[in-house]
Amino acid sequence: MPGFLGSGARLSADLILIGLWVLGMVAVGGWGIARRRAFPQHCRRMAWVTFLAWLPILLGMVGPWLGLIRLGSSVFAQPATVVPFMHGMTGGLAQALMTYTVVRMNWRRQWPPRRPLWLMRISLALWLLSIVGGTGVYLLLYT
Ligand code: HEM
Repeated sequence: MPGFLGSGARLSADLILIGLWVLGMVAVGGWGIARRRAFPQHCRRMAWVTFLAWLPILLGMVGPWLGLIRLGSSVFAQPATVVPFMHGMTGGLAQALMTYTVVRMNWRRQWPPRRPLWLMRISLALWLLSIVGGTGVYLLLYT
């Protein structure tokens, strides 16, 4: 079924793109909450954002990415395959790091690092960059 952004992409791709941008904005809002020192709300919000992001990743991205793996070395032959492939690796790293961070901050305070501020900053920055990267994938594939 065609999407609603007028790019010719399928509906699920449009929904994933918009959904992740919404989650990205909610996460930036969560960062603002931390700056106002409301840490419990901040921690909860970041956990929600991170867990919700698993839905589009698992339902819409892992399948196509496994298809790219099956191409073997010819995945590097053209931008339309290598870019989503690389995005999948960096996005996977970012999502795994975000997941570790929210679990560490909400439920496993004894997990390293002892001073987690840098971990939160790096994981959020990488995660937001993955949204930009995913948008690049969308533009490359569908425009
Ligand atoms: C923070 C984590 C991630 C974010 C924010 C993100 C974001 C996005 C966005 C916005 C798109 C464009 C929508 C679309 O084309 O369907 C996209 C596409 C894609 N992503 Fe991700 N992504 C993330 C993680 C991953 C992971 C972990 C994988 C691989 C396991 C992956 C593989 C892909 C692939 C293959 C596409 C192209 C899908 C298609 O062929 O339509 N992404 N991503």
